[in-house]
Amino acid sequence: MAEPIDAIRAIHNAFRNDLERIDAAALDSARRKEGLDATIGRFRFFNEVLVWHAHGEELAIFPLLDNVAPLVAEAYVKDHRGLDFAYDTLSKSYSAHDLLQTARATAAFRFHLNIHLDKEDTHLYRIFKDRVSLPEQGKALGIMSSTVPKERFPELVGWMFPLIGHDDRENMIRIWQMVMPAPTFAGVKELIKKAIGSDWAELTRRIPTL
Ligand SMILES: [Fe+2]
Repeated sequence: MAEPIDAIRAIHNAFRNDLERIDAAALDSARRKEGLDATIGRFRFFNEVLVWHAHGEELAIFPLLDNVAPLVAEAYVKDHRGLDFAYDTLSKSYSAHDLLQTARATAAFRFHLNIHLDKEDTHLYRIFKDRVSLPEQGKALGIMSSTVPKERFPELVGWMFPLIGHDDRENMIRIWQMVMPAPTFAGVKELIKKAIGSDWAELTRRIPTL
């Protein structure tokens, strides 16, 4: 059965995969390969989602963790500010059309992001899963999702689903199916279908109620 924390793992994987592609494109572009602007330019939306996510963690996850494991979350807030700084550096380099600095900035951003997410998955969220009750976890995830502006939700789905594998897709869908009112979920289903095209068949095989 899908648990609230599976949604976190899924979005973490989307972050990892997107920044890996952006970084690879930035390196190729610094080597004078053409036509990569659209891929590199994705870093802006990528970071918007990252900021919603980090804000949601600071709002809903970290305070719960402070109650059961004092001083743990503090280090992760510092990481978040480091990620903000990595974005600013990238944004400035990209705006200045400095291909070499842009590639250096995406590499630094990716390196820091990967270490941060790996620590969250294996340390912070392990403590969260062990010490916070399942209903509290669910409530926290609900608060977290409120940091995504409603009108941007379709963009979020269109961004996330192509970036994650079948297991993460299945978990996300099962969670949304559980927590969303039926008419809302019906709309989200269409967004997912549009985002992943022929991969939809595998999901209907996994989740027959779709
Ligand atoms: Fe985080």
